Amino acid sequence: MNLKAFIRDIDNFPQEGVIFKDITPLLADAKAMQYTLDRLLEMVGDVKIDKVVGMESRGFFFAPLLAQRLNAGFIPVRKPGKLPAEKTSQTYDLEYGTDTLEIHSDAILTGEKILVHDDVLATGGTAKATCDLIKRLGGEIVQCNFLIELDFLKGRSKLGETDVKALLNY
Ligand code: PRP
Ligand code: MG
Repeated sequence: MNLKAFIRDIDNFPQEGVIFKDITPLLADAKAMQYTLDRLLEMVGDVKIDKVVGMESRGFFFAPLLAQRLNAGFIPVRKPGKLPAEKTSQTYDLEYGTDTLEIHSDAILTGEKILVHDDVLATGGTAKATCDLIKRLGGEIVQCNFLIELDFLKGRSKLGETDVKALLNY
């Protein structure tokens, strides 16, 4: 199945000069969604995963589905101020300014095997901050798993030795 046919380019969104990869047509198609999930699982391979970590918001589309199929728990990494219990925060640099992501401090136990999933790997800031949070809690990252990688932004260079896999490259 040609999944790229289900992803549309939106010019100048969310700001001038950016071409946004809109995956909502893929999400709206039952067969494309199923096919995507199966391929994302293939990228993980036959390895034990304790928790799947997904990043708000668009990481939440597939991360819980992956968790179900892997017989793993799902852990949300959220934007600031959303998580209610004791949390761990990680701030990272943007082109202009900084951003912060948070995780519940008891969400991951030392030594747990973690799969990270997000829809898009762009500059890698989101994924790097998420990996830093997981490591600070003692988790072992098995793979960073993406639906889309924007190769020209070289996000994987921020993720060091971590196994980084993407289903679609642009
Ligand atoms: C997008 C995308 C990734 C991130 C990738 O999320 O869903 O999470 O950007 O960019 P990076 O590799 O440069 O960090 P966004 O922050 O737009 O928010 P959303 O998921 O809530 O739409
Ligand atoms: Mg996102």
